[in-house]
Amino acid sequence: MDFQTITEIDVKDKTILLRVDLNVPRQNNTVSDTTRIERLLPTITYLREQGAKILILSHFGRPEGEQNPEMSLAFLTPILEKCWDCSVQFSPDCIGDVAQDIANSAKSGDVILLENLRFHKGERANDSDFAKSLAALGDIYVNDAFSASHRAHASTTGITQYLPSAAGLLMQEELTALGKSLNTPQTPVLAVAGGSKISTKINLLKNLSKQVDYLVLGGGMANTFLYAQGNSMGRSLCEKDMADTARDIMYAAARVGCEIILPRDVVTVKELKENATYDIVDVNNIADDQMAIDIGPKSIAYISEKIKGSKTVIWNGPMGVFEIKPFDNGTNEIAKIVATQTVEKKCVSIAGGGDTIAALENAGTTADFSYISTAGGAFLEWLEGKGLPGILALSKENPPTKKCRHL
Ligand code: 3PG
Repeated sequence: MDFQTITEIDVKDKTILLRVDLNVPRQNNTVSDTTRIERLLPTITYLREQGAKILILSHFGRPEGEQNPEMSLAFLTPILEKCWDCSVQFSPDCIGDVAQDIANSAKSGDVILLENLRFHKGERANDSDFAKSLAALGDIYVNDAFSASHRAHASTTGITQYLPSAAGLLMQEELTALGKSLNTPQTPVLAVAGGSKISTKINLLKNLSKQVDYLVLGGGMANTFLYAQGNSMGRSLCEKDMADTARDIMYAAARVGCEIILPRDVVTVKELKENATYDIVDVNNIADDQMAIDIGPKSIAYISEKIKGSKTVIWNGPMGVFEIKPFDNGTNEIAKIVATQTVEKKCVSIAGGGDTIAALENAGTTADFSYISTAGGAFLEWLEGKGLPGILALSKENPPTKKCRHL
């Protein structure tokens, strides 16, 4: 898509409204994973070096339009200062006089964090007055929040009607990496889709099966497909009412030459707990009192061979209950093969989604993937083939048409 990037516009002495995603995991007022903050550093550094004044826009949690001190962004100020190596001022509201006064007194290179956008109902409602109030604070809007761009909110779409817009460096990086994985990939392409339910990932499976050569299914999702093939799944997590959907996806995939790869053997337990006694059985041999919670060695061997023959690997969702040891083994082994192939430059690997990153971290392989997206829901919607509203709104074909103080 055709949009401006921050390196193409003059930002000197301009006030930039920079939409980022600071929806980070918090534990006792610290951040347990600062990836989303660190990945913004190139944009912050670039804008500061160019002499821009930066107003940071972000949401945190889902306060549903209420002022909720538990979800204030204030706790992040010292953490941003540390990660971005600059001082950061905090504005206790994201619109109105208080924000305007702070914005007016900003100097080139200053960074100001505005309070949680979602304290105002107008953010989620994409209310035009709220979007206009945000726009009135600055000169240029920059979206560097790929991970929030599946939301059509005031700070991701509405605001672009009032200000000239551009994409930030992280947004550019995400779109380039993801574009390479599906739009212009090196083939064969293999996608790994895991997670518990197919009901939440039907569109993902339909879209991926049209675009990739191999679709590896794991987790509870695979159980539903195995059931649809006539296997008895015992007490496994399985959406029996989705069996027809699973069969439709398998037929459609076969018609376009996509091989859906299901587990051949599984790890089963009677009780789901750490270090539970387990069996390894073929998928047509699952006992009535057992549940399948991970893929077995035959499955690992077959999937590994397919990965070794692929040039692009896309990953969303774990292969089993990776949170409970040793049932992270299947996910870990598959992650290690992808990591090794990537390090040996035999494939390009892209992963995204909250659970996925946690699973790859557990496997110790995150650093070896070619690209890890910062996005959860947005990554999934992008893989589903949906146009993300926040990205569509940046298009040069959607220039600002409404007036705030600037127009
Ligand atoms: C995320 O963490 O995936 C984004 O910040 C979006 O958050 P949301 O699902 O609350 O809109």
